[in-house]
Amino acid sequence: MRGLWFIVARALHVLAVVVWIGGVAAVTTVVLPTMRRLDSNEQKLWLFEQVESRFRPQARLAWLVVGLTGLYMLYALGAWGRFIDARYWWMHAMVALWVVFGLMLFIVEPLVVGPRLQRKLKSEPGKAVARIEKLHWLLLVLSLCVISAAVAGAYGWLG
Ligand code: HEM
Repeated sequence: MRGLWFIVARALHVLAVVVWIGGVAAVTTVVLPTMRRLDSNEQKLWLFEQVESRFRPQARLAWLVVGLTGLYMLYALGAWGRFIDARYWWMHAMVALWVVFGLMLFIVEPLVVGPRLQRKLKSEPGKAVARIEKLHWLLLVLSLCVISAAVAGAYGWLG
């Protein structure tokens, strides 16, 4: 029987994944197509800045909660050995996705892509939005695959 704290950590892990990847899904399927349809470049930029400034802190917090609860579960399960066992590829996938999003949220986006994108949104908004949309679709599909694999793996369905 797993302890209470393990259950709490697992619930928080899943809730944070819901908030975070749910936000990525909403941005990808609702906000970006709306942004693409706006006529004025100023409005595009305004919407982008509004959504980004509100979603980024939320996504960063969720990312942190997912990482901390994931580490706690690994410790509680004594499951570090999974990382040298290929049958647990879904564990590698979870951590890899977490690292990719961490790099995007804390380094690449605010320091590199963000400022460049702001300029592009002013000069070539159509191209810039199309590029952001493509990247978001890629991250969303990848995330959904990892979530499916993690649930299947955690329930012992992957061998
Ligand atoms: C540092 C990063 C992460 C670590 C250390 C980690 C660790 C874990 C651990 C130990 C489990 C429990 C496995 C078991 O019970 O056998 C788990 C479950 C799970 N994780 Fe992660 N994880 C991380 C990141 C992520 C990410 C990025 C996602 C999805 C976007 C994710 C989604 C899930 C899901 C859906 C479950 C299954 C929960 C359930 O069905 O109850 N994890 N994770």
